[in-house]
Amino acid sequence: MSLDLALIRAQFPSLNRPAIFFDNPGGTQIARQSAERIQRYLLECNANHDGAFTTSRQSDAILEEAHAAMADFLNAARPEEIIFGNNMTTLTLHISRSLARTLKPGDEIVVTRLDHDANISPWLLVAEERGCKVTWLDFDVEDCTLKLEEFEKALERKPRIVAFGYASNAVGTINPVRKITEMAHAAGALVYVDAVQYAPHGPIDVQSLGVDFLVCSSYKFFGPHAGILYGRYELLEGLKAYKVRPAPDSLPGKFETGTQNHEGIAGVLGAVEYFEWLGKTFGGEQEQGLREGGYNGRRLELKKAMTALRAYEFELSRELLSVLGEVPGLRLYGLADPRKLDQRVPTFAFILDGRQPRPVTEALAAAGINAWDGNYYALAVTQRLEVEASGGMVRVGAVHYNTLDEVRRLGEALKKIV
Ligand SMILES: Cc1ncc(COP(=O)(O)O)c(C=O)c1O
Repeated sequence: MSLDLALIRAQFPSLNRPAIFFDNPGGTQIARQSAERIQRYLLECNANHDGAFTTSRQSDAILEEAHAAMADFLNAARPEEIIFGNNMTTLTLHISRSLARTLKPGDEIVVTRLDHDANISPWLLVAEERGCKVTWLDFDVEDCTLKLEEFEKALERKPRIVAFGYASNAVGTINPVRKITEMAHAAGALVYVDAVQYAPHGPIDVQSLGVDFLVCSSYKFFGPHAGILYGRYELLEGLKAYKVRPAPDSLPGKFETGTQNHEGIAGVLGAVEYFEWLGKTFGGEQEQGLREGGYNGRRLELKKAMTALRAYEFELSRELLSVLGEVPGLRLYGLADPRKLDQRVPTFAFILDGRQPRPVTEALAAAGINAWDGNYYALAVTQRLEVEASGGMVRVGAVHYNTLDEVRRLGEALKKIV
């Protein structure tokens, strides 16, 4: 069953505006279910944590439900493995302090040049503080895929932490997460996966991937500005938390410092409820196979949703590739082979011959199309591709609420600019 785009777009009130949203890798529009959860939280049960009275009990019940919903979304073994925080960057800086305590001078950390800086700088800071060595894993500039043969060599030195992304926010490459995780584990390293850019595009299963930590941000998957960290229970339990004394020593509270953004967390629950609706409405085709694979309840609906939208996104990617390929003088970075769409998300970065990216995005904005330019904090990528000094790249990224017609209008606008 393919997606009914009119029905899907009706779940996103902000899509009523005339703009075409291809700025999604920087942040998606919010689903109505999520915005309503935020409003209901603030108007009906706004309260601090752990009081004896009704609104506090109701508030805590919502926070608990949000942990359970995110555990379902990531297929975590238990809700206590879900830690909420401001955003992915802050959560990573926070937990990296705890991990730093387990390292000693000379230990090695692997980071990649394909990553957003939020999964690089925290580890550089740890290395500086603890006297650790950093190995940079390079990518192939031709197709922007990680050089795994270099990774194999790096593993011979037995690194302690390997930090890498699920999907690149600049060029859209999906990394082979399970394979990298298996390789890292065989060498005795922990893996820290940045799934911020993959989360809106496909199902995530932390148990089957075997990852130790995985982070994402709900404003990239149709919810509000809130970050989510998954950590394996025994690992989180064993880590020393940077916390104040009256805060709990148990999970997840020991890492959820201070009063949380309760309404934001309620909004994350709403975003998961949106996906659940999507699964119930459009995911029928996969139902039987998934049930046989052991999925049920909300996990089943979420898996159905993410599988259905990923299938539709292949169509968007194919059209984007074709449309961008028709623009004279357009240089695309990253995987451009239509047979390899399963190795990328529909995020495309390019430059137009002889033009700085900013005037291009300004011209697109004048045509009613939102797109990003610059490095989008994927500084190592733009440096490696040698485009940093010339303003980075133009980036357009589709999600499942975008239409094929919008992609074609992007193509027309780019042709006019050229
Ligand atoms: C791949 C990736 N990682 C990390 C981040 C940072 O996320 P946050 O804004 O939640 O700190 C972003 C934001 O663009 C991103 O795209």
